[in-house]
Amino acid sequence: MFALLASLLLASQAHAQLVGGSGPSAPVLSATAATGSWAPAATAASPKPALDGTGRQLYINSANDFCLLMPPDPTTQNLVDAEADAVAYCINPMNGTRPMPDGFIVSAHFKKAAGYKQIIGQYNPAVMNLGSGASPDCGGEYDSYGAQGVGNPVGAAVTGAVDYQQFLGGCDIPGKYTFALRACTDENTHGALCDHTYDLMGMLYTQPSNYEDAGFDDCEVTDTTPLSVLPNGSTFRQGDSTTPLPSAYRQAPSSSNCVAKQSPAPSGVTYTWNQAAAQQTTGASSSSRGGSSGSSSRPAATSSGSSGSTGGAAAGAVPAAGLALGACAAAAMMGAMLL
Ligand SMILES: *[C@@H]1O[C@H](CO)[C@@H](O)[C@H](O)[C@H]1NC(C)=O
Ligand SMILES: *[C@@H]1O[C@H](CO)[C@@H](O)[C@H](O)[C@H]1NC(C)=O
Repeated sequence: MFALLASLLLASQAHAQLVGGSGPSAPVLSATAATGSWAPAATAASPKPALDGTGRQLYINSANDFCLLMPPDPTTQNLVDAEADAVAYCINPMNGTRPMPDGFIVSAHFKKAAGYKQIIGQYNPAVMNLGSGASPDCGGEYDSYGAQGVGNPVGAAVTGAVDYQQFLGGCDIPGKYTFALRACTDENTHGALCDHTYDLMGMLYTQPSNYEDAGFDDCEVTDTTPLSVLPNGSTFRQGDSTTPLPSAYRQAPSSSNCVAKQSPAPSGVTYTWNQAAAQQTTGASSSSRGGSSGSSSRPAATSSGSSGSTGGAAAGAVPAAGLALGACAAAAMMGAMLL
């Protein structure tokens, strides 16, 4: 028991050191903006939401009403550093969570399936000091488990769900900053649909979806395929000797009954780490990193397993994507030490 504890402790110390150098470190603040006009409603229940709240209870209601886990201080921690202590930022904050800053959510698509609710979309990294064009924060995966089964970060949960997994970062699709949060709601299927053992594979493998679509909408999807099953019927486990190429990933399940939503109402919140860059960002997510060809030119899945390569994701057919995925995998690999 002690040996186990000690090795966990060592692993987490090594983790902290390694991870610090594995991705771009959180940049120091170069300019600050005043915090905005936001204040918690006088009627808000206790613990009230706050700009420095540490609540980790997330919810996913619709394309313009949800929460994401992010670092409590992104000037000192990148996304992977914050695996243990990320906090919830919510569009309608409550229960000690923080308000989502204005302009952070660029697009969002809510999906309701029989076994889960999910929100995916794009964000503006400058608003949360999460990297920029040349050095995106590749981010990583947060989930309900972690090394000690108590969550990564500890205690985070999604209201009404059994478990969840969140991916957020700027490398899954080169030049795009994307997020994916899926919360599984069914005791019988959560193990298959929120399988947390694919943290190195990124959101395009675990939560294939329409990441590049603009706007906001709520849709229904029919999706019962376990994360372990590839479209060709084979089972893949992270760590298997052959890692599927992106062309062999499951495709986005088709959406139905979509309802367009308004973008989130402005919150009046600007965190002090919102750099001057945030003011010039609207173009940032589309202008950088060798164009946006990445995922839209992904080859369609073929049922014959065309290449049979054992090279893994880093040998991907799209060079830019291969590089970025490699960087992500390296960062995520460090994260896996806490898995
Ligand atoms: C906030 O806390 C209350 C009281 O504990 C709880 O009933 C409610 O579900 C929480 N809301 C969310 C979105 O987690
Ligand atoms: C299915 O695809 C995977 C990944 O490309 C491959 O390793 C596996 O051999 C394929 N299975 C079949 C039955 O073609």
